[in-house]
Order: sequence, then C-alpha cells, then structure tokens
Amino acid sequence: MLPVTAHPAPALRGECRPPGDKSISHRAVLIGALAVGETTISGLLEGEDVLRTLAAIRALGAAADRDKDGTWHIAGVGIGGLAEPDDVLDMGNSGTAARLLLGVLAAHPIVCFMTGDDSLRSRPMERVAGPLRRMGARIESRRGGRLPLMIAGAGDALAIEYELPVASAQVKSAILLAGLNAPGRTTVIEPRPTRDHTERMLRHFGADVQVAPEGGGNRITVTGQPELTAAAIAVPADISSAAFPLTAALLAPGSAVAMPGVGMNPGRIGLLDTLRDMGADVTLANEREAAGEPVADLRVRTSRLEGIEVPASRAPSMIDEYPILAVAAAAAHGRTVMRGLGELRVKESDRLSAIAAGLAACGVRAEISGDDLTVEGCGGPPPGGGTVATHYDHRIAMSFLVLGTIAQAAVTIDDGSAIDTSFPGFAALMNGLGARISGSGAA
Ligand code: S3P
Repeated sequence: MLPVTAHPAPALRGECRPPGDKSISHRAVLIGALAVGETTISGLLEGEDVLRTLAAIRALGAAADRDKDGTWHIAGVGIGGLAEPDDVLDMGNSGTAARLLLGVLAAHPIVCFMTGDDSLRSRPMERVAGPLRRMGARIESRRGGRLPLMIAGAGDALAIEYELPVASAQVKSAILLAGLNAPGRTTVIEPRPTRDHTERMLRHFGADVQVAPEGGGNRITVTGQPELTAAAIAVPADISSAAFPLTAALLAPGSAVAMPGVGMNPGRIGLLDTLRDMGADVTLANEREAAGEPVADLRVRTSRLEGIEVPASRAPSMIDEYPILAVAAAAAHGRTVMRGLGELRVKESDRLSAIAAGLAACGVRAEISGDDLTVEGCGGPPPGGGTVATHYDHRIAMSFLVLGTIAQAAVTIDDGSAIDTSFPGFAALMNGLGARISGSGAA
C-alpha cells in the first residue's frame, strides 16, 4: 500500500496535458493488430491498462514497437491472422482490455486462457461471453462467469443480431470486433447511445459500419471480413482524466486552467453537460477532428456550483465520472441527486459504496438509496481531514486527492498505486498547476 496525501491548495493555474484517451488507445492497438500494414499511434496512453493490451497483441503474434519520441508502430497481421499464445493472457486491472480482446479472440480458431488481477477476476464477463458463444466461440469460465476463462474461438464465426441488455460500449465493441471475422453483417442494438470509438475507428481503417437510431439508442451494423488498412492515429487527451484537474480548478478559488486537445466524443461528455448545468464556466475552443474523433481545447475557471438532479439517462455518457462529480457535488451549494448508478457496482471497485464511504470519511453527508446517490453539498470547501480506502481503484484514488486539494483539511488515500492504470504522472501534473500532493504512492 502506497499512501498519498493531498493538502489544501491555493489557486490552480496554467496549462496541462492529461494523458491519451484510454478507450481510444486500447482500440488503436487492437484494431491496428488486425489491419494490414503498419499503424502508427501518437499520444498513446502508456498506462498499465494499455500496456496489458500491447503485451496481449504481442503474445498473439503482432509486433508493437515504440520510437524514442513516443510514437508506437503496430505491425498488423490482418483479420483472423492472430496466432495462439504460449501462455495465459493477463489483462491486469483492465475490463476494457479483457472484454474487447475476448471479442477479437472469439473469431480466431485458437485456444486462449485469460486472467486478471483480484478486481478484474471479480467482474462480470458473462455479458460478453453470452453473445460471443452465439457467434460460435466456446467459453468456459469460473462459476459466476468470472475470469480466469478459456476461450476457443470459432473458425467460421456466425454473424448475429444482438440486443444489449445493458448499455455497455465494451460489450457492443466486443461483438463488433468478433463480427469483423464473420461473413455477413453483425448487428448490435444498444438501448441508449454509448461511446462510439470502435465504430469511428473501424471506419477510419476502412470498414463499413452503419449506424441508425433505434428506440432510445442505436442499431449498429458492421460488414464482416473487410480489409482493414493500417492508419495513422493521433490519440486525444482523455476527457475522463482531464476531469480531475478540471474539477479541481472549478472548485479551488481563483483558478484558471487550460487543457489543449481533449477528446470530445459525444458519448463521453456527460460530465461537461452536468457541470455546466451546475453553473461551471467551461469553454471549448478550436473544435476539430483527429482520426475520426472530435477534439477541442478546454478552458475552465473557478465557478459557483449548485446541486442538481442528474437523470439516469445521462449515465452512459459519464459512467466513469461519477466519483469526481460526487466531489464537485460535495463542494456545491445544495443537494445533488445522481440517478441510475447500478453499473458503478461492477467497475474497478464497487464505486457506489467507495464514493459514499470516502465522502463520509471526509465529513460530507451522502446516502445511497437503491441505485441513486444523494450528496449534500457543503456550499464551499468540504471538511476533508480523513483517510479514504481506494480498493485499488484509480478513479476513486484521484477523485479523493482532488477533494483534499479543495478541502479545509488534507485528505489521505490508503494507496495511490492504481493511478498508473490510467493517469501516469497524475501528482506531478496536478502539482504543476499548484496542487500539493505528496506521498510514497505519488510518483
Ligand atoms: C469503456 C466503456 C465503459 C467504461 C470503461 C471504458 C470502453 O464500460 O466504464 O472505463 O472503453 O468501452 P462499460 O462498457 O462496462 O460501460
């Protein structure tokens, strides 16, 4: 356990570059491995989670090399061209790496064994295994559909039509990636729109992906067995990582922070909409596209936030941002109610409980009722002064370091080591803006 402490800081000011988008980084590596030719990736997130995806595609026979300047080169083997690995694929802490790779493997006639760390071995995999079995893969897992599991992919995968029971971009993506090597058209129907990085990137590599609105969500169809042509990818900064300095700057008096080149995928910007509804001064400039993804420069200033009610319909577009939204709510004026957070229970930790327990340790009143979370805003800096259990969850860790940064008294997290899964250099970036984060786990 490597504890980290955030001391209350004065204003946060300056410009910072949060690391590359985690969702886009995983997809760039996986789809690059399935293309023909060499894919170059700049701005790739070199956090633990993406390093697991890189290690997996290498074990499956694709080469991945890094230039001194940080550009990655992936030598694709073509759709269906991955080889059986010699050893177990260990996906570490990463649900996205595990689920997306299962989709890829489901349509390769090879046998693989997959595992992960304590947290990943407790997370549900049946939500991807079910539809992938319908496509012809054989998947045997531990009781309850958990890792470790064995997957024997189909040599002649079946194109299917599948209606997602939960709005999950990971499950949608796994099926679309399997559909790449199934003759015919594979269709996924999502009940609500979720991040569409897979659809955008597949198109960027030359695949035919059709999207039409259906019900409250989308019907997405990929045509199988296209030739994916290697492409250049510039990974934007991760809005889910930018969320931490952004929220800290909103709450620390006298702050002004700029963040260039942040990804603005419509399925990812629910936090910006919610913070703006609360009164946040966040502006976008220089809106543009990079490798099929919308990108903008963000500017944020200290703002007075009011508590609001956040509807369940917003959850898919800000699913990873509830821990940091809870910190904003703790400092806001009035009560914030966040509805429909059931999926938070099956993230890197049970985030719903972890948020409520962390807020209580910091002197903030919060209550879980069913799938809803209510936070009583302190109308200014929350008391702080507590020690927070992170359960090896990077977003819980960073959220409570932001709380300590804007609180009346310092906040300690029990372990900062998970931060590297998505945000290497978090403490240095925050301290560069004026934060005071230190401790053995703050490297
Ligand atoms: C992700 C989708 C989301 C999100 C995760 C990344 C992705 O998970 O929480 O951090 O890259 O597709 P779900 O699909 O389980 O909602």
